[in-house]
Amino acid sequence: MSYLITGGAGYIGAHVVRAMVQAGERVVVLDDLSTGVADRVPEGVPMVVGSTLDRALLDSTFAEYGVTDVIHLAAKKQVGESVEMPLHYYRENVHGLQTLLEAMAAGGVGRFVFSSSAAVYGMPDVDLVTEDTPCLPLSPYGETKLVGEWMARAAGKAHGISTACLRYFNVAGAAAPELADTGIFNLVPMVFEKLTDGQSPRIFGDDYPTPDGTCIRDYIHVADLADAHLAAARKLAEPGPVRDLTLNIGRGEGVSVREMVDLIAEITGYTDARAEVTARRAGDPARVVAAADRISSELGWKARHDVREMITSAWAGWLLHHPQARRDA
Ligand code: UFG
Repeated sequence: MSYLITGGAGYIGAHVVRAMVQAGERVVVLDDLSTGVADRVPEGVPMVVGSTLDRALLDSTFAEYGVTDVIHLAAKKQVGESVEMPLHYYRENVHGLQTLLEAMAAGGVGRFVFSSSAAVYGMPDVDLVTEDTPCLPLSPYGETKLVGEWMARAAGKAHGISTACLRYFNVAGAAAPELADTGIFNLVPMVFEKLTDGQSPRIFGDDYPTPDGTCIRDYIHVADLADAHLAAARKLAEPGPVRDLTLNIGRGEGVSVREMVDLIAEITGYTDARAEVTARRAGDPARVVAAADRISSELGWKARHDVREMITSAWAGWLLHHPQARRDA
């Protein structure tokens, strides 16, 4: 077996590559390096630089590396940017996926793991979001992920491709400092940035209908997320009928923004920092927490790392890039 991992030079993709390689799987990476970093791909893993929009490149990569399975993470993923540039998001995320699935169907590649998102649910009005909670995405980004799931399932059914759509909740942490997220688009790195710049971390609204008034999310360590990809890939490879899995990847545990900010201040040693509460950010749901039982019964996967480990490992990555940020915790 030989896995093509698209987006394998990205933050999450590189963790998936590492988990697959450590499990003894043969891997080739395809990445256009628009946000990916070539150095994240371990030595010995071949990397093809290019896009999933390039059908000829896909065909030649499948042939050259004898690809039997695809794990597809290459995509644009910033909610705000997707509102500004919806056509770019549809082109990259939907047309890119379509081209990939066409190449798979033509090349007889029969297993597909798709990087989806809890963004497909939009503003779920439930305590725990199950995979059957209605999908009502709020942004073009979330729409492209939902359309992607539909396309993957339909193509899978028509062309005999087993699919697993993995809906990630809030990803944080790093398996090693050099694999840490270098983007500053999510709560944990945004708080790191404020703290190390000597500014107050921001809390976007504390008047939500939650116990402390701040938004609640389900944070998942990127190393656990990577292991879930391995478990999904292995499940699809088991003998049997064509499969069609849709799975939440979360811990089933809600943590508020206020709790996260306090824990980050403690772990980083910036204990004198006080968070500043600002207006709500448009489009933020009050609470998004996964029901995580389907993935555990289908794949036997369970998250192993808690929020403290996510922040500690993310901070080690931050210090690698910003060594002057260190404080004695
Ligand atoms: N937040 C703050 N202050 C900050 C940064 C974030 O209060 O400086 C809050 C946000 O308002 C939100 C929570 O922290 O309530 C988490 O925000 P993130 O931006 O880290 O994550 P989101 O839940 O908004 O988005 C994440 C992923 C998206 C995905 C979405 C839905 O980043 O890609 O979950 O699954 F679409």
